[in-house]
Amino acid sequence: MTMGKIAVVGAGTMGSGIAHVVARGGYEVILCDVEQTFLERALGTIDKNIDREVAKGKATPEEKAAALKRIVPVVDRRNLAQSDFVVEAATEKFEVKAQLFRDLDRICRPEVILASNTSSISITKLAALTARPDKVIGMHFFNPVPVMRLIEVIRGLATADDTVQRVRELAAKLDKTPIEVNDAPGFVSNRVLMPLLNEAMYAVMEGVAKAEAIDEVFKLGMAHPMGPLTLADFIGLDVCLDIMRVLHDGLGDPKYRPCPLLIKMVDAGWLGRKNGRGFYTY
Ligand code: 3HC
Repeated sequence: MTMGKIAVVGAGTMGSGIAHVVARGGYEVILCDVEQTFLERALGTIDKNIDREVAKGKATPEEKAAALKRIVPVVDRRNLAQSDFVVEAATEKFEVKAQLFRDLDRICRPEVILASNTSSISITKLAALTARPDKVIGMHFFNPVPVMRLIEVIRGLATADDTVQRVRELAAKLDKTPIEVNDAPGFVSNRVLMPLLNEAMYAVMEGVAKAEAIDEVFKLGMAHPMGPLTLADFIGLDVCLDIMRVLHDGLGDPKYRPCPLLIKMVDAGWLGRKNGRGFYTY
């Protein structure tokens, strides 16, 4: 079956990054979001980020123009009926994704794979809302999507082998490396990463060291490209808190308790780099 037209649903940071790599991979992209302004902002981001590739000689201006031309922005979900494969990258809230999966199941042809870029929501639960649980799968990209090589491929309880195989083939076409894991809270990436970031926040809260010092420990001592608090700001403190809550609720172990400082900062509206204030000011 052809995978010519790939729909990306949600045009935020992750959705625009996914649309970028899918269009650069030669596919037509139907980029869908609920407001025209979100789509325009995403197209602006993609334009700017492909310019980085042009500046480095990794893409020609003609390849950039062709990739941008392959992206069709749409607000009306009914346009998704034309897609051969869907990657959902909407807001990380179960109710939002649940409604979206019900709609996608109704709108898209029965053979179309519905992949979610969720960072922690159960693929098995999303799949159970559809009449095609064998064709629902997790395809977890990493920010910045054009740079990070990994796609964490999450197999729900009912996901078919053929679905996994087709996602592997797509990942290869996008020049990414798929790593397969089973469905469990936070999968592998966030189950291991988030407690590290959360613990760094406890260290700040308890006055063990300043954010800058903690970050330098990880940059210089462990060769991390960003320290844990810079990374938390980069990911978004609200996203970190949502994921810690999924781990805490899903695994029931107090070791996943979200750091009270994180809760307080999110309550204050300090969400990290995206709105200018987190552990650092931007
Ligand atoms: N979009 C596209 N390309 C970008 C980019 C962006 N937003 N930001 C940086 N780049 C590219 C640059 O063009 C450059 O390309 P080159 O290697 O071809 O020259 C390359 O990335 C390196 O960029 P810079 O030299 O400007 O900056 P740095 O060396 O400081 O690297 C970084 C920036 C790649 C973001 C690096 O700091 C890094 O790897 N940080 C860690 C990122 C990380 O851990 N991401 C995962 C987050 S967890 C997640 O996403 C999962 C979710 O569920 C929470």
